[in-house]
Amino acid sequence: MAPKLAVLAVLASLLGAVSCEFSISIYAGYGFPPPNPNQPFKLPPASPPKNPRPDLKVGYYAANKCPQAEEIVKRAVEEATPGEKAGLIRLFFHDCFVQGCDASVLLEGPDTERTAFPNLSLRGFNIIEKAKAALEVECKGIVSCADIVAFAGRDASCSLSDGKINYQVPAGRYDGNVSRANDTFLNLPPPFGDLKLITDMFAAKGLDQTDMLVLSGGHSTGRSGCGSFANSFSNRLQADNSSTAMNRTLADQLNTTCTADSVNVPLDYKTPYALDHQYYKNVQEHNVLFTSDAVLLESPETKVLVDSFARDPFFLSDIIPIGRNPWYDAFAKAMVKMGNWEVKNSTVGEIRQFCGKVNDKKTY
Ligand code: HEM
Repeated sequence: MAPKLAVLAVLASLLGAVSCEFSISIYAGYGFPPPNPNQPFKLPPASPPKNPRPDLKVGYYAANKCPQAEEIVKRAVEEATPGEKAGLIRLFFHDCFVQGCDASVLLEGPDTERTAFPNLSLRGFNIIEKAKAALEVECKGIVSCADIVAFAGRDASCSLSDGKINYQVPAGRYDGNVSRANDTFLNLPPPFGDLKLITDMFAAKGLDQTDMLVLSGGHSTGRSGCGSFANSFSNRLQADNSSTAMNRTLADQLNTTCTADSVNVPLDYKTPYALDHQYYKNVQEHNVLFTSDAVLLESPETKVLVDSFARDPFFLSDIIPIGRNPWYDAFAKAMVKMGNWEVKNSTVGEIRQFCGKVNDKKTY
């Protein structure tokens, strides 16, 4: 029995490491206008869920459009730093939540999404531009910036998780022409949000509470400016008796490090460069930066999920794991689901020549 188990365990570990084929006052602290008590914050009208999208297809470019498309994006992502890779995962989220997954987050210019406060710390734009430039040489006018963002989010997740997160990306998105700074405030959840607000804001994008909790695991890598969790409206570093309070040891360390809002600290103090299930252990131990992370312990439904994702696989020996933590596959599925949101087609979108600007209608 033991040798059989060992073989199964080796197989499982190999499978797990396949190569990377491919109350509203809070708003003021996040760059929002001061709240008006006579006018409570309203969620944007929820559009009906549009999942699954029959018009997106796995291998969309592979057949004859541009067979090397995904490989070109993958090569660009491979050259990115771990920090830029974290940025690419967040970029996909910020793209999909505002105007749908249509690369509106990449458009440059006054009052575009890029200029809005929650997007000022986005990174990875250079990697998208690099991939787009290479794609325009190989397959001019074929591959949308929206699909590049989706592929790059997958490739970054795969790389940072050491191959544990690996999935196929349905593609065929077109690029949008609208990008407004104000849309970001209404659509991107703030780090000070409570469980209801965060859940509702994901529901408005066709994502349920489990998807929200699974995708929040993105906070197992990358960084945050101190101003995102310690400011005059909501200071997570102050001593606090609430159930969502930060672990005092971490808060004391951050009190020393956070000498200015612009100082960056790791989101995951234990394994900052890995996209892994450590995040859920951090949530259990109150070692998380944002209220939106800490509130995942607040309801019995979310706590059960946090506990199950926090569990390490059982190890047969020091190096042979048995089974797989379910979070990695759940994250892959939720990323695909998020990528379905309000996808544009050729009637309302275009394939941009440069990801930072809409096409000049006369020349392209
Ligand atoms: C639950 C709602 C969420 C809130 C309130 C939130 C908020 C934030 C904030 C405030 C930061 C730090 C910004 C800064 O100061 O630089 C951040 C970083 C990050 N977020 Fe989220 N986020 C949420 C969901 C997500 C999702 C769904 C993903 C992806 C699946 C994600 C991935 C990331 C990553 C990877 C970083 C680090 C980026 C970098 O290092 O450049 N977040 N998030």
